[in-house]
Amino acid sequence: MASRILGQIDISRYDLAKDIKILNSITKLPEEYDEFGQGYWKNLSIYNASGRAEDSQFRKSDECLRTEYASKCPEIQRLVEDNFKFTHLKMVRARSLVDGMVIPHRDFVELEKSTTYFRAFVALETNNESFHSDEFGVFQMKAGEVWFLDAGINHAAVNFGLGSRMFLCLDFMFEGKLNTNNIFAECVSTTTHRNSFYVDRKPLDERAIELIINSTAGILNRHTFKDIVFALSKYHFLYDIPVACCYDWIIASAEMISDNEIIRKAKSMQKYLIEKRDIGERYVINDWQV
Ligand SMILES: [Fe+2]
Repeated sequence: MASRILGQIDISRYDLAKDIKILNSITKLPEEYDEFGQGYWKNLSIYNASGRAEDSQFRKSDECLRTEYASKCPEIQRLVEDNFKFTHLKMVRARSLVDGMVIPHRDFVELEKSTTYFRAFVALETNNESFHSDEFGVFQMKAGEVWFLDAGINHAAVNFGLGSRMFLCLDFMFEGKLNTNNIFAECVSTTTHRNSFYVDRKPLDERAIELIINSTAGILNRHTFKDIVFALSKYHFLYDIPVACCYDWIIASAEMISDNEIIRKAKSMQKYLIEKRDIGERYVINDWQV
């Protein structure tokens, strides 16, 4: 399902600048899926299953407890507790992305299909150099907007600039269909938001794609592989091409030079990121031992 705006929070009711400053000052810890970010990508658990700030893994749980970061950020805590119901809420993370990107992937691919996962984003500030993408297009989230982001389809994020981009990411889990009334408290407006939001991207014709694949083949080896993954991942934010086509391009380039190690590596990365992975399975882009 395409990502869309679900509602609008009156963000002027919250003095968020101080909390955002505190979150930006917290030293980043190693975390799940770190290897798929480039630049400064930080996830801070504000609410989670254990109440431990260093626990960043999303999982099934009956608890959604405040962590020490929630205590340090009273206005963000107030925003979450004013505007969302906790019945199905499992985790709230503050997400910062600066001068970097998160490469195309799907989340929840390792979890059971019988359960429905619902991810909402709240932009705490507007950053004009930040973009999100999914299989339907590229868009920007503005301060106070609450977005549904379908983490079960291919998606990515980027901040091309150096400015702060702090969002909240709220994960809900439930059986059957969810009514957004079960997520939002009454103060969230579901009628005042923008209806069109996709950004215009330049066309990229077959000839240009062929040139990219040929050029990539000329520089692709195990030492450049990771950089190429990040570079080609950025193309879809600028050009009207599928979000995860970068993986097909890298495989095509590796096949062109008959480099079996790179072909295997690129195919296993594509499988891990957007097709199938098991619970606890890890993948490190630059690990060539496997
Ligand atoms: Fe994701």
